[in-house]
Amino acid sequence: MSGLLSKNQWVAIYSSQELEPKGVKAMSVLGTDIAVWREEEGRVHAWHNQCPHRGMRLSYGFVRGSRLACLYHGWQYEGTIGKCAYIPAHPDLKPPKTACTKVYPCFESQGLVWVSIANPTADEPELSALSELEQPLQFCRTVFINEPPDVVSDILKTTVFLPFDASRASEGPYLIVTDKIESNGTGVTAQVNWHSKSNGKKIATVTYQTLIREQGVIINKSRGEQGEQGCLIFAILPINENKTGVHVLFSGDFTSQSLLGAKQYYAQWATRLRWSLENKNIRTDSYRPWF
Ligand code: FES
Repeated sequence: MSGLLSKNQWVAIYSSQELEPKGVKAMSVLGTDIAVWREEEGRVHAWHNQCPHRGMRLSYGFVRGSRLACLYHGWQYEGTIGKCAYIPAHPDLKPPKTACTKVYPCFESQGLVWVSIANPTADEPELSALSELEQPLQFCRTVFINEPPDVVSDILKTTVFLPFDASRASEGPYLIVTDKIESNGTGVTAQVNWHSKSNGKKIATVTYQTLIREQGVIINKSRGEQGEQGCLIFAILPINENKTGVHVLFSGDFTSQSLLGAKQYYAQWATRLRWSLENKNIRTDSYRPWF
């Protein structure tokens, strides 16, 4: 794995909004199966997805207050420590100490649930780059790509991907002319001219800056000639050797109505992003999913 993705890092496994109270979900991180669940009171946990009793997947289980109960024989495990606290078939029996599931470090920040499957390099990930964004962060969607995490990560961090300002989406389709593109160790800067595809008329010149951050986070910022700003964020989820998730988030100043439109716009764009990444050998312009 590249420097952006390693076992010793924190990984954004789900968006917080996808995990409702009493919700249980499954996900793999670097090939490790994890059950992620939320207590009735809201606290989130990430466990090895296998019941210590007979191996049933715990992600099929159900939440009882601060415990997760296995679907098969109903053994209940305590949220913070993963230790069996109750066996329904033997209610008076003290569960054996060995009946304990592996608990992974887990916490929530910036609308994402973060997990570490090894020894994290820090108590909590350095997310200051996200918390420093001027506008609130909005989760758009997660796309799943049948490509290795390193490949997806390398493309995302070396290519300027940001779509055009969501508020001007209706003016498309666009033709794009890249004026300047510069790359260095910390990211990519590009100046892009947007033209109308129908009449060729230039609509705007936008400067893009892609910043590479730790913990699989890539931040794309854009600034138009009139000062319009956009910000698109990718949080990469390395599922296994051949599959990658990309959480797509954005930040900006939106009303409740324009926020809905922006979410739809970026969600459509994310679908094209997935297609582009999976079909990179078919189209020469495949890394430019704004077409
Ligand atoms: S397999 Fe989970 S309680 Fe038996």
